[in-house]
Amino acid sequence: MSGGQIDSVMQEDRKFPPTADFQAAAKIGSFAAYESLYEESIRDPEKFWGELARKDLHWFKPFNKVLDWQPPFAKWFVGGTTNVSYNCLDAHLNSWRKNKAAFIWEGEPGEQRTITYAQLHREVCKFANSLKSLGLKPGDVATIYMPMVPELAIAMLACARIGVVHSVVFGGFSAEAIADRNNDAKAKVVITADGGWRRGKLLELKATVDTALAKSPTVQNCVVFQRAKNNVAMKDGRDHWWHDITAKASADCPAEQLDSEHPLFILYTSGSTGKPKGIRHTTAGYNLFVKKTFEWVFDYRDDDIFWCTADCGWVTGHSYIVYGPLSAGATTVMYEGAPNWPEEDRFWDIIERHRVTILYTAPTAIRAFIKWGDHHVDKHDLSSLRLLGTVGEGINPEAWMWYHRKIGGERCPIVDTWWQTETGGIMMSPLPGAIATKPGSCTKPMPGVVPVLLDEQLQPVGPNQGGMLCIAKPWPGMLRGLWGDDDRYVQQYWTKVPGNYLTGDNSRVDNDGYYWIMGRIDDVINVSGHRLSTIEVESALVSHPNVAEAAAVGRPDELKGQSVVVFVTLKSGEANDALKTAMKQHVRKEIGALAVPDDIRFTGSLPKTRSGKIMRRLLRDIAAGKESVQDTSTLEDYSVLAKLRGDEE
Ligand code: WTA
Repeated sequence: MSGGQIDSVMQEDRKFPPTADFQAAAKIGSFAAYESLYEESIRDPEKFWGELARKDLHWFKPFNKVLDWQPPFAKWFVGGTTNVSYNCLDAHLNSWRKNKAAFIWEGEPGEQRTITYAQLHREVCKFANSLKSLGLKPGDVATIYMPMVPELAIAMLACARIGVVHSVVFGGFSAEAIADRNNDAKAKVVITADGGWRRGKLLELKATVDTALAKSPTVQNCVVFQRAKNNVAMKDGRDHWWHDITAKASADCPAEQLDSEHPLFILYTSGSTGKPKGIRHTTAGYNLFVKKTFEWVFDYRDDDIFWCTADCGWVTGHSYIVYGPLSAGATTVMYEGAPNWPEEDRFWDIIERHRVTILYTAPTAIRAFIKWGDHHVDKHDLSSLRLLGTVGEGINPEAWMWYHRKIGGERCPIVDTWWQTETGGIMMSPLPGAIATKPGSCTKPMPGVVPVLLDEQLQPVGPNQGGMLCIAKPWPGMLRGLWGDDDRYVQQYWTKVPGNYLTGDNSRVDNDGYYWIMGRIDDVINVSGHRLSTIEVESALVSHPNVAEAAAVGRPDELKGQSVVVFVTLKSGEANDALKTAMKQHVRKEIGALAVPDDIRFTGSLPKTRSGKIMRRLLRDIAAGKESVQDTSTLEDYSVLAKLRGDEE
């Protein structure tokens, strides 16, 4: 155990090659084709990305250098000028795509809107001119706090069009969180809505913004889109209705010619401690990376109806609802509300009615669907689907199998996409026509992405041993820094493993060269000197027929260093000691004695971030019986914590 690698205990041998039909129709339709693309990208990355950038983006002025790499600071496509909003909109206006649907939107109460590329272009131009009329200039920051309505994407694209940097704050965050982000970014304007709908309930967004603005001295204006028609207070001189300012605005707004490295957006992610980090992404490299990864990973075709169920408040929404699909000229479904409103079959209903061909969602949602029951799925015709995807967390193999069987009808490949807010776009994923999938593995790196796995002594780990996942080479979609805090950027990502980007995740590579993400470095459980991965223990529990979800954490143990404690939600069966015993036996059989939990606790739900990730660091304190001093501002449901501390059983 010298090097501090992670011991893999998981056995997963199932493998699913793409069908011959899928392969025949795919753009990258064989493993050899993937390999040659990857080889080419690694042999001469600057040539590879340079050629793609010239072909795939519009340039007002061509770049003269592909990459300027002063570790850890990268500049891509140096000297060029382009515009992301131009690449998403104007680029399609001289083609038949002009009248193609860009967005098919559905509100939670059931309204529907279809917006073509030409219509979207017009709305974006009008709103961009409105922002200009409020005095906004390139480099200024706009906070966007909106429900999932098309105007959220319009606001993002309008900012991009005039060089205003957007900072989208998820519509479920508190006034405090908005104010913190306004102040950190020195935002000049907040773009919001009167309200939005979630699970049949009105979210009073404007009221929350009013509270935030009392503590946001840099914000001079607030634009309010009328969505829910609830009563809101409008402050004279500061607040403007979206429909009023756009009514007067011209629909002619040429895209600003922006430097390749002009900041496009800031997106705040919660670090495990301390204040949120403002991840900074820029123009050309990000745009190219999300466009190409969208086309590669989703094997995108012009007649696809693509649905990414994320919220635009997360990076997944930025990259795979707005910027990736629109640059590629895709039709995207956008849904405002909850998956269980009015019933637990809402997603399947949407897929059936809009004939969705590609569904991209999160493991947390998949586990909820499993818990809610197959009968919701059985009511609907899902035969339009041809491809499925997951993002946000590792997916337990049994949940993967359910997704494959029940949603994919055993015909749709599943792309398990590993990436981060920091990486801008997908870093590892199967290419569905080229790479056979394995349940729980994100398989292979994207072109141009060079992963390395190192132990605590910074030595490479062997096959099937877990190590710290780092990225050895810069890539166009990488973060360029943290907003206003270069020191923290260097410290957080580039210090522990000099010269490499530290992802903060652990991973292993199997005998086929497939990557398996093993969870966060901080979450490793150390039992008698054996370092275990959270997801492997959890997956063993999820493969038990009664278990819906599991979260594994380490608890200090005098003898073993740490012992395994597991929090479990059930989909069936009685929460009693007999079941606990059965589960322990099951884990012993699946992955061995070492990983058998000392303690299993049943719970109604697990603490999660608002984007659906299990918050293991909070569970660690609960397992240890400690009062938590951790930051809980990103917690989705506070009552879950109270319940876990009190009546866990
Ligand atoms: C985790 C979301 C396993 C991982 C795009 C990563 C995953 C963090 C996967 C980033 C996956 C995301 N398999 N783990 N397919 N996708 N993660 O910034 O720990 O919200 O570091 O970006 O989510 O989360 P973020």
